[in-house]
Amino acid sequence: MLTSFGAVQISDHVHWVGAVDWEIRDFHGYATQRGTTYNAYLITADRITLVDTVKAPFRDELLARVASVVDPSDVDIIVSNHAEMDHSGCLPDVVDMIKPERVYASKMGTKALQSHFHDRFEVEAVEDGGTLDLGDLELRFLETRMLHWPDSMFSYLPSDEVLFSQDAFGMHLASTERFDDGVDEGVLYDEAAKYYANILMPYSPMVRKLLTRVNELALPLKLVAPDHGPIWRSRFDMAIEGYDRWSQQQPTLKAVVVYDTMWGSTAKMARAIADGLAAGGARPRLIPLQGSHRSDVAAELLEAGALMVGTPTINNNMFPSLGDVFLYLEGLRPRNLVGAAFGSYGWSGEGVPQVNDILRKMKVDLVSEGVRVQFVPDEGDLDECRKLGKTVAGRLVEMVEA
Ligand code: FEO
Repeated sequence: MLTSFGAVQISDHVHWVGAVDWEIRDFHGYATQRGTTYNAYLITADRITLVDTVKAPFRDELLARVASVVDPSDVDIIVSNHAEMDHSGCLPDVVDMIKPERVYASKMGTKALQSHFHDRFEVEAVEDGGTLDLGDLELRFLETRMLHWPDSMFSYLPSDEVLFSQDAFGMHLASTERFDDGVDEGVLYDEAAKYYANILMPYSPMVRKLLTRVNELALPLKLVAPDHGPIWRSRFDMAIEGYDRWSQQQPTLKAVVVYDTMWGSTAKMARAIADGLAAGGARPRLIPLQGSHRSDVAAELLEAGALMVGTPTINNNMFPSLGDVFLYLEGLRPRNLVGAAFGSYGWSGEGVPQVNDILRKMKVDLVSEGVRVQFVPDEGDLDECRKLGKTVAGRLVEMVEA
């Protein structure tokens, strides 16, 4: 448990000195219903080292936590593992206030910090695989380019067997608990999965390479300390197994049915499709977009094997809520999906063909041109929807058993 703005000692030479953001609900388009933390770490070596900072408004919280351990002006080194603003926003102020001897980042990190803060302070590059002498201790560096920015890197403190993993293995979860074993296991899994889906999914091939490299390095790990959420000390296997599975993007029998509806017809079709999916052996997950967020759709798509999309036609177009979701999902590049489109229309019916075009662009394997119904579906139309669900389920079962 943490006390008000006090540091939390997490190992012999490391304190957590980050900030808890209970209020954030939108993290660049990702719905953070449980808030988040911005983790920063203080290494009390001969050369006192701060690993990452926090989002700008939380500067004083960071400094207060540092001050609960050492005089902030005694900090000799700052290491920036990741230049994104949630970890570097207060870095220029912190540099001005504590005047460290050096600020270090990866080679790409030096460029990113320069592009963010221009000439506010000097940054020195560290090498991939290189080390930094902290006097009595040593810090090692491991570049993790595109996980999830070009500048991203890990730092490793061998004396304490702590891996500072920046965004990787993180989650958006505000809590007074600093360690994984203080958090409900279901919450831990759901938030780690949602974070992977929304932040790391497009970089899954790099995640696979990273897992191989970490495995080869065989670093002894007592703690894995990410920049968001709890520190892993008891259940890191859950994170590793999850990342291994999620990065393979192998399909399961889960079928995500995303839809919006104008007067309830497309929703009726979605429910009939769900019946067909279940009858065919799939596990349907219906996501009505009224009240659901794009980032929750992304989270459901993790480990799914099918994506079915329902839209009414409005003013010769698909529903705008679908446009929002597609724009987001296209960037996340989910793979290995079978799917189909469906929807009700009044007189022109462009919505379903438009959805088909986008699904094809996303490399979703369409089983047909989908089902379109004028105005309100009758029993025959709903039977067509059930058949469509069953067809998708059949393909899904084949894919999963292949
Ligand atoms: Fe938590 Fe990519 O910043």
